[in-house]
Amino acid sequence: MRTDPLAYLSSELDTLKAQGLYRHLRILEGEQGPTATFDHRGIVNLSSNNYLGLTTHPRLREAALAATRDLGVGSGSVRTIAGTMDIHMELERRLAAFKKTEAVVVFQSGFAANAGTVAAVLSKDDFVVSDELNHASIIDGSRLSRATIKVFPHKDVDAARKVLRDLPVRSGTGPRALLITDGVFSMDGDLGAVPDLCRVAEEFGAIMMVDDAHASGVFGANGRGTIDHFGVHGRVDIQVGTLSKAIGALGGYVAGSRALIEFLYHRARPFLFSTSHPPAVAAACIAAVDVLEQEPQLIERLWDNTRFFKAGLKALGLNTGASESPITPVIVGEGALAMKLSDRLFAEGVFAQGIAFPTVARDKARVRTIVTATHTRDELQFALDVFKKVGGELGIIKH
Ligand SMILES: Cc1ncc(COP(=O)(O)O)c(C=O)c1O
Repeated sequence: MRTDPLAYLSSELDTLKAQGLYRHLRILEGEQGPTATFDHRGIVNLSSNNYLGLTTHPRLREAALAATRDLGVGSGSVRTIAGTMDIHMELERRLAAFKKTEAVVVFQSGFAANAGTVAAVLSKDDFVVSDELNHASIIDGSRLSRATIKVFPHKDVDAARKVLRDLPVRSGTGPRALLITDGVFSMDGDLGAVPDLCRVAEEFGAIMMVDDAHASGVFGANGRGTIDHFGVHGRVDIQVGTLSKAIGALGGYVAGSRALIEFLYHRARPFLFSTSHPPAVAAACIAAVDVLEQEPQLIERLWDNTRFFKAGLKALGLNTGASESPITPVIVGEGALAMKLSDRLFAEGVFAQGIAFPTVARDKARVRTIVTATHTRDELQFALDVFKKVGGELGIIKH
């Protein structure tokens, strides 16, 4: 009889179970909203990246339906063969105007945008200088590029400078260096050291790249991201954004010079070798840009809710780390405690995802909360009351 060559996977899963780190997928029944039904339970939803509530915005819904009616459900090809529809080009033009860059290329996801871009612009003689908490897609893209990876401690600009100073790179010919940071860090909700890193990149002629996945639609005028928030337009060579979080649909994009975008059209492997978005996705994203430009009150509501909820968590004495964004962690220490807190919150009607090692450091396990523009004050107050009750029960809140 054939022995199962994948048997070792079952024992790895058993180890996760023994450590209390095994995760069941929670199943969403119905729409992704500020309140929702997961696993047959109605909850206040503090786990989505649907910052502006655009997953269900009527203008996006209608645009997607109209595009499906007029253009069908799929593009039928990769972009470089027969899969570039005029609606894809329109989305890229709209995003470039919105981001105030020469051009934009859209990818199937933010992950594909980061990984595909880093891998395309660097090769084995080059260097990536990367914040230790940068997203997995940056790490994977860096590995795929075969460049040498140098990691600097989180937001430690002096350390990044020292790394660059000691590399055999100067602008012009020869090996290149890419200095890269998240705009907003997804587990801690703090902002990258964007202006200081721009200065360091300029000093050493490095390419500057920012992954603004969690800043798109959240920071800067009309949600233009951290480059706008920090006033560093023209100083970041490669800006990545997603269409999957605040924009409410799916995708990622790179904004930059015309030459960068045309190069990625030729060399970014997810662009070359994976089918483009269905027309409905492109249409929904175009409608989302309209909403960002015409309904700035959504972003104001997001920030009002963020201030209210953060203040409430802090007033309970919870450790919310260094967050500066709508992502607010509640850091409890041990992984098993974070998972228990998340489970108890869920049982009481609040969904805040537990996050443990290896996603965060072993002693910094947490539940992560994300408020949206569409939460009501009553919903957020309910969530705070549940945090108070469960936090007290588990000894996380001391009285
Ligand atoms: C910082 C960061 N970058 C990139 C991504 C990937 O974006 P997407 O979900 O569009 O693939 C994520 C999402 O998980 C993220 O948190």
